[in-house]
Amino acid sequence: MLHWVFGYGSLIYKVDFPYLARQPAHILGWERRFWQGSHDHRGTPEAPGRVVTLVEVAGQRCDGVAYCISESVFEHLDHREKNGYRRVDTPMTLADRREVTATVYIADERNHAFLGPETLYEIAQHIDRSHGPSGSNREYLLTLAESLREMGVHDQHVFDLEALLFDNA
Ligand code: BEZ
Repeated sequence: MLHWVFGYGSLIYKVDFPYLARQPAHILGWERRFWQGSHDHRGTPEAPGRVVTLVEVAGQRCDGVAYCISESVFEHLDHREKNGYRRVDTPMTLADRREVTATVYIADERNHAFLGPETLYEIAQHIDRSHGPSGSNREYLLTLAESLREMGVHDQHVFDLEALLFDNA
């Protein structure tokens, strides 16, 4: 059985799984936020980093990348994104205008690693000092910002944090 998955974070640029089709896509009613703690990729249990999750905001739109995958790929993705994320099904619009149902990984305030909102300055400072087994938290943010820019996507939250990191450099 084939499924669509919507990627809005590292799934945009770290494609370590097989897929049958890939194209830009968006979902409505969600915003990307650096509100999730990372114990296993960009931080540690003692010093978690900050990575993206989605928060529900009526009227907002989140742009990312859609992948058509076979069901067996979920095993890999579930393991990769095991730190607090759960699968949610949501309507998604593909760049070719098709409307499909997609699975998206979301980490909400009920998970043990959730960090929630802080000032942009605090979040940027947090990202700047964090490292984990997958590399620096700074690299995660800068790669995400660059990938969004290449796709022609404007995300104020991500670009504001990126600018604060450069101020810090
Ligand atoms: C994503 O890129 O869609 C993603 C982000 C965080 C966890 C899982 C997936």
